[in-house]
Amino acid sequence: MIGIFDSGLGGLTILKSILKTLPDYDYTYLGDNARAPYGNKSQEIIYRYTAEAADWLFQRGCRLIILACNTASSKALRQIQREYLPSKYTGQKINVLGVIRPLVEEVARLPKIERVGIIGTKATVGSQVYETELHKLNPDLKVFSQTAPLLVPLIEEGWIDKPETKMILKKYLRPLKTKQVQALILACTHYPFLLPEIRHFMTKRVAVPDPGEIVAQSLINYLQRHPELNIRPTSGPTVRFYTTDDPVKFKQLGEKFLGRKMESVDKIEL
Ligand code: DGL
Repeated sequence: MIGIFDSGLGGLTILKSILKTLPDYDYTYLGDNARAPYGNKSQEIIYRYTAEAADWLFQRGCRLIILACNTASSKALRQIQREYLPSKYTGQKINVLGVIRPLVEEVARLPKIERVGIIGTKATVGSQVYETELHKLNPDLKVFSQTAPLLVPLIEEGWIDKPETKMILKKYLRPLKTKQVQALILACTHYPFLLPEIRHFMTKRVAVPDPGEIVAQSLINYLQRHPELNIRPTSGPTVRFYTTDDPVKFKQLGEKFLGRKMESVDKIEL
């Protein structure tokens, strides 16, 4: 079973693409909606929350967890991979992956790319993880970052089509447009819910890759390279959803975001 974790509903943008690309696997989605947003919290808290979520998903039988959350990927993933898993799950064939590396590789590989924009939460932008990773692949890239702290709460409220959200979105995007970036990285898994507006505002001159599609492709490669995890397609694949907050609200918004029915959503405590 593959676990997909986010602070809230944003990871559904990643799950949606994964379900399209790899429909025959079992998935468990966990949204820590009760404690979202993570993006304004300290590294220590983000790490603790992410480790608690990982423990819960491992206990449910997941052998691979995708942190479908840039904030958790930028603030907790490295420590989880290097310290937490080796000490707590010594010798077990399990792993936790993030969403940053596949996006960085995609954008750094674009032809004639010189100027890249990043839009993300305060935690992700403050970590400078995207700059660091992009510069490892292409030291000449000029990277411009923008925090967008109001977008996650607006999306968690389901305010996707509201004019107020569009207005705030434009305010965040304008500085990046002015910098004439050639590609824009959506460094928060909530933002792809606004992908059509973002692409429209940035115009066709700017490449805005869909993070879900990129993560789904890299998951295919990862599963091929890691048969030892023993994650295999099943004849009756299941997708289960769990939230730490109100399951009714999660289902209502989640089905709209995911574009398919959720058979059940259960509330859990971390
Ligand atoms: N989807 C998370 C991310 O990608 C949201 C962050 C938050 O909870 O603030 O960063």
